[in-house]
Amino acid sequence: MTNSILIFPAGMPRALTYLERAQSDGMRIIGSSSLKSDTARGKYSEWVYLPYVTSPDFNDALSRAIEDFDIEGIFTPNPVVWDYLNRCMAVNFPGVKLVNTSPIASEVAPYHKAMQFAESVLVDSLPLATAVTPQPAMSKLQTASLFCHSESIPGMCDHEKIRALCELFRYAPCGDIVEIGSWWGKSAFVLSRLAMYYGVGKLLCVDPWSNEQLIQNDEKGLVDRVPVDAEEALTIFQLNLLPYAHGAINFLRLPSIAAEEIYRTNPNISSHEFGETTFAGGISILHIDGNHSYRSARADIDAWAKHILPGGWIVFDDYIWPYGNGPQKAGDEFMMENLESIELAFVMGSALFIKKYKNQ
Ligand SMILES: C[S@@+](CC[C@H](N)C(=O)[O-])C[C@H]1O[C@@H](n2cnc3c(N)ncnc32)[C@H](O)[C@@H]1O
Repeated sequence: MTNSILIFPAGMPRALTYLERAQSDGMRIIGSSSLKSDTARGKYSEWVYLPYVTSPDFNDALSRAIEDFDIEGIFTPNPVVWDYLNRCMAVNFPGVKLVNTSPIASEVAPYHKAMQFAESVLVDSLPLATAVTPQPAMSKLQTASLFCHSESIPGMCDHEKIRALCELFRYAPCGDIVEIGSWWGKSAFVLSRLAMYYGVGKLLCVDPWSNEQLIQNDEKGLVDRVPVDAEEALTIFQLNLLPYAHGAINFLRLPSIAAEEIYRTNPNISSHEFGETTFAGGISILHIDGNHSYRSARADIDAWAKHILPGGWIVFDDYIWPYGNGPQKAGDEFMMENLESIELAFVMGSALFIKKYKNQ
């Protein structure tokens, strides 16, 4: 059998993540630890005890294990063991490779990426043709922190959209942020963080989180075939947003049209999980990312656009969408019907951004 990999120490979280991936790739994995009774032992079909890396017997014991199990590679999530092996591998264990890069380098890589993103947002700020004087931009650290946390939430909010949102909040009037379609909460997190930083207002997330409402009749039926669990998506949304709620975020588990009726008639919206939130009743930023069929996208904008405040924004997600033209048709129609009240519009990433005039 090929690809025998030793994982040492085998119980650390990164070790177990690697184990799962390696097993699904059909590799032969040997777990090992310096603990006489390691709780991870039961997860491995093959196992070998190794003394601590500081022990004078470590090299001999590892050489024996390499021979006994025909080991070709070693995965170690421990930075000290990795560094030691990296220095002496070629001489002491020839023919065996470290299969992972430095654990410290891989732990800090997402933070470096976040700082690079923040740097690029600051250096390449969007030249928006508007009469509004923007608020000063978020610092590099604030932007990197927003990016970093958003990366821990799965979802459909690409980096270009985050970049554009970072900018447009600087030009947003005070008012509510409404998101139609939140799913696991990725864009909701970005919206809530920016709303809080720039003191714009509170975030209302509108989503039925229901499998029936997910049917979009996309052109080839590829989207509608993907198996998803809306109930679980709501739980994940709550897990992701709960730490930031504190009366500043709430949600309505309803289709957008039914939710608009509630928003129109009652400023106080409450949920068991997030408590009560008092909304302003006028929208600063409307993010439309619900059902992408033309009928739904058109109904969303028809129901909600009337609440947008002077100087407010509409973001049509998936204006460029490979599975149909619902958002694009609805977005284009909206622009044609409201040309005189639109100060500027642009497409960035796959989203359409529209800003209403402040004074009309
Ligand atoms: C593309 S996902 C949203 C992705 C999310 N904004 C993100 O950043 O990852 C689309 C969402 O729209 C929701 N949805 C479907 N029909 C809706 C409707 N009539 N009103 C509001 N949301 C709807 C779905 O439940 C789903 O959560």
